[in-house]
Amino acid sequence: MRKPIIAGNWKMFKTRDEALQFIYQVNQNVPSTEFVDSVVCCQAPLLRDLVKRKGENLAIGAQNMHYETNGAFTGEVSAQLLENIGVEYAVIGHSERREYFNETDESVNKKIHQAYRFNLQPILCVGESLDIREANETNAFVKAQVEKALKDLTDEQVSTLVIAYEPIWAIGTGKTATKEQANDTIKEIRNVVKELYSSKVSEELRIQYGGSVKPANIKELLSMSDIDGALVGGASLDAVSFLELVEAGLKK
Ligand code: 13P
Repeated sequence: MRKPIIAGNWKMFKTRDEALQFIYQVNQNVPSTEFVDSVVCCQAPLLRDLVKRKGENLAIGAQNMHYETNGAFTGEVSAQLLENIGVEYAVIGHSERREYFNETDESVNKKIHQAYRFNLQPILCVGESLDIREANETNAFVKAQVEKALKDLTDEQVSTLVIAYEPIWAIGTGKTATKEQANDTIKEIRNVVKELYSSKVSEELRIQYGGSVKPANIKELLSMSDIDGALVGGASLDAVSFLELVEAGLKK
């Protein structure tokens, strides 16, 4: 049995006051990590504040990190520092970073290795554009992304990895993939992992769906066999909505 994981990706939203208010609102009500993992991924300058004030059942994640430990990389954030301040997760290879900040499959792979070096739990994002889906090339595209991202990772690392399948056409558009579309592609990802590793690893790995997930549609998505959780943008910004999302995870 895979434990559901619900993660909010706040992207470049929220001031410090708004973030702290959110944390105080959700702290008492986040369900036990025994049943569901709940994560909030915020902008880097907020990480330490949230780590200090979060309740025991919430984990805090970064939205990006560099693959080198330190050096002359102006403006970057190291995995070593993230671990040092108590951050537990790192989103890696989000489609917005691939599109606007030159993130490549190679840098994504290096970042996953680096995250494991510093005990960060990577959430690897993959997903196709509308053109690719309409050309019926989704499976081949996502397969290649997964293969490149996982290069030289061990069985043990991949069995604890979280992958978020986020079709680009469903992000921030209000257009969710149908539960069948999401489950089919996620099954395909599990299959790729099975071919590269083993059925044991592919059964242990957790795979989320992301793209216009909200309290109104999360239950049907989580009712599917291979969807283990959600990576949520817009609907994770509001405390009440975030709690409804993790509540749905609890019931999976
Ligand atoms: P939305 O939930 O706002 O569509 O964003 C999805 C996403 O990109 C999460 O990483």
